[in-house]
Amino acid sequence: MADARVYGILSAKGGVGKTTITANLGAILSKEFKKKVLAIDANIEVPNLHLYLDMLGLPSSLQNVIKDEVSIAHSTYTHKSGLAIVPGSFLEEGVDVTRLKNVVDLVKGLYDIILLDSHPNADKEARAVMEASDEIIIVTNPWIPIVTSCLLTIRLARDVGTPIKGVILNKVGRSDEEMSTREVEDSLGLPILAKIPVDINVYRGVEKRTPVVVEVPKSPASKEFRRLAKLFI
Ligand SMILES: Nc1ncnc2c1ncn2[C@@H]1O[C@H](COP(=O)(O)OP(=O)(O)OP(=O)(O)O)[C@@H](O)[C@H]1O
Ligand SMILES: [Mg+2]
Repeated sequence: MADARVYGILSAKGGVGKTTITANLGAILSKEFKKKVLAIDANIEVPNLHLYLDMLGLPSSLQNVIKDEVSIAHSTYTHKSGLAIVPGSFLEEGVDVTRLKNVVDLVKGLYDIILLDSHPNADKEARAVMEASDEIIIVTNPWIPIVTSCLLTIRLARDVGTPIKGVILNKVGRSDEEMSTREVEDSLGLPILAKIPVDINVYRGVEKRTPVVVEVPKSPASKEFRRLAKLFI
């Protein structure tokens, strides 16, 4: 089996939808497209991917793996969709994020696709995620301040040297005044991979700790996640 392609899911601002996208893209690629997918919660400071997947009380985490306390195999858990995850844990001291790449490289041979969720910044944590990734996906919403903040992520990606696959425009359709796809593309100079609508089912899915693609597979957002997933196979 060829090595997995590793995608870092990044944004400089919080709340844009990185974890939602990691959970839904991972779940749909596993469940419907039968890919072997691993999602790693590389949001070292505020990990919550496991909460979006109703996987609480897991005994070990990425932080334990980075600190060499357990193997990554012992920190990998499978969601009912078939998606494998390495969860994060809160309030861990002394985690050297620069070791993330070593950890990811250990399991590249076992999966088709690896998704790295991340902390919202353009700092050393984002750099570690970029260094561990083959390609970067930037998540944004169609509002000027958030789109502008993507320039920080783009600058860091160029500095690290990891190519950017494109931008996922999330929470689309909230206002007539929001930026158009064309405007976002022109401001960032990057292709838009998907336009995920603002969809109450996504929000409910997070509240119910089940990805919308599993809970409501025909919702507007699920349809767009399905289209997006095809770009990864
Ligand atoms: N397409 C959507 N439609 C409706 N609600 C959405 C959509 N995408 C995300 N949300 C909601 O927005 C909130 C933030 O999403 P999420 O946690 O995925 O963002 P994030 O980028 O991972 O945040 P952080 O940077 O803090 O980790 C959640 O409550 C989620 O339900
Ligand atoms: Mg998140």
